[in-house]
Amino acid sequence: MKQIRIAPSILAWDLGNLREAAEIASKGGADQLHLDVIDGHFAPNITFGPGTVKALRKVSDLKFDTHLMVDQPAAYVEKFMDAGSDLLTFHAEVLDGKRFDQLSAAVKARGKEVGLAIKPGTELPKWALERMDTLSALIVMTVNPGFSGQRMDMSLMPKLEKISKAVEERGFDTDIEVDGGVEPENVADVVRNGGNVLVAGAGVYSKENPVSAIGVLRQRAQAARRDG
Ligand code: DX5
Ligand code: ZN
Repeated sequence: MKQIRIAPSILAWDLGNLREAAEIASKGGADQLHLDVIDGHFAPNITFGPGTVKALRKVSDLKFDTHLMVDQPAAYVEKFMDAGSDLLTFHAEVLDGKRFDQLSAAVKARGKEVGLAIKPGTELPKWALERMDTLSALIVMTVNPGFSGQRMDMSLMPKLEKISKAVEERGFDTDIEVDGGVEPENVADVVRNGGNVLVAGAGVYSKENPVSAIGVLRQRAQAARRDG
């Protein structure tokens, strides 16, 4: 069975003190740090770029899970890899099979991992399903991209289940990463529907004790598995 992994999203912390966000994630035992890059075109917000990732790389040993919500990933992928990103996730909405293959080859040439993300309203394209064996992670977004602190759209659970089953049936170990509104209250639903990597912005950083919030999410996820 795929490992449960917790990926705090620093977008929910004080953007003037991202070093602290990374420290909280490490102290809480997070598996990876989720970095939301938004370009103001793909989604209605502008967050940070490779310079910020590079600065964070100096102060954190965590795996950098870089979620590229940008219209032109090909123009930036090398810069994020230079900056220290480990997993580079692209959005299916701005790609097709051929463009994905080019990006994927560039990432793999550097020994890094490739992910693919879909917005709530996007079905997994056929070209993506055909390339599932090349993906380390598939991000199923459960809020519209742009901002932390939105409520998870629970009507997406059947879609999550369908995608997880499709991956499982093919025998791939691609991580199913659920991104948007993950909170202790909905972790059981997410896990039962096949999510194994839990991205959490507000679900970690808006809690009174963000360090222990990471452990709470992990415990809930593991309990949901035990209880079926
Ligand atoms: C939304 C981002 C998410 C978001 C998660 O555009 O991709 O990663 O920051 O934050 P929460 O968990 O607060 O929804
Ligand atoms: Zn994200």
